[in-house]
Amino acid sequence: METLRLVLRYAHLVGFALLLGGAVAQYLSGRLRINLAMLYGAGIQIVTGLALAAPIRPEGQEPNPVKLGVKLVITLMIGAMVFFSRRREAVNRGHFLAIIALTLVNAAIATFWR
Ligand code: HEM
Repeated sequence: METLRLVLRYAHLVGFALLLGGAVAQYLSGRLRINLAMLYGAGIQIVTGLALAAPIRPEGQEPNPVKLGVKLVITLMIGAMVFFSRRREAVNRGHFLAIIALTLVNAAIATFWR
């Protein structure tokens, strides 16, 4: 079980890297469109996050369910913002920055909310 949790956590961090790295690189290129790294990253975060939220830890070490709920809502928002705009040539700057900001908020929640 512990190996499974670590593998899932590793995949979760790779998804985070794809989502944030893809978004920042795209933003710096000056062309505000959703790229595949962002799309895959958002998908990986939903799947691996839900799997990590499963009861795979010893008693008493489960993460706070309220924290997980907040992260899930934010991730679904990111997922919708990425998925439904994936074919657009360009999205609004606010839309794009919101994806980056929400990703950073979720990483902060993961890190600081104990
Ligand atoms: C954009 C979306 C997300 C980002 C950026 C993100 C970020 C992170 C990061 C950076 C960690 C590592 C924290 C650490 O090791 O101290 C983490 C862990 C975790 N995340 Fe997420 N997360 C996202 C979505 C989700 C979702 C949707 C869920 C489930 C509802 C979730 C559940 C978890 C759990 C349970 C852990 C703990 C892993 C462990 O140590 O066993 N995450 N997340």
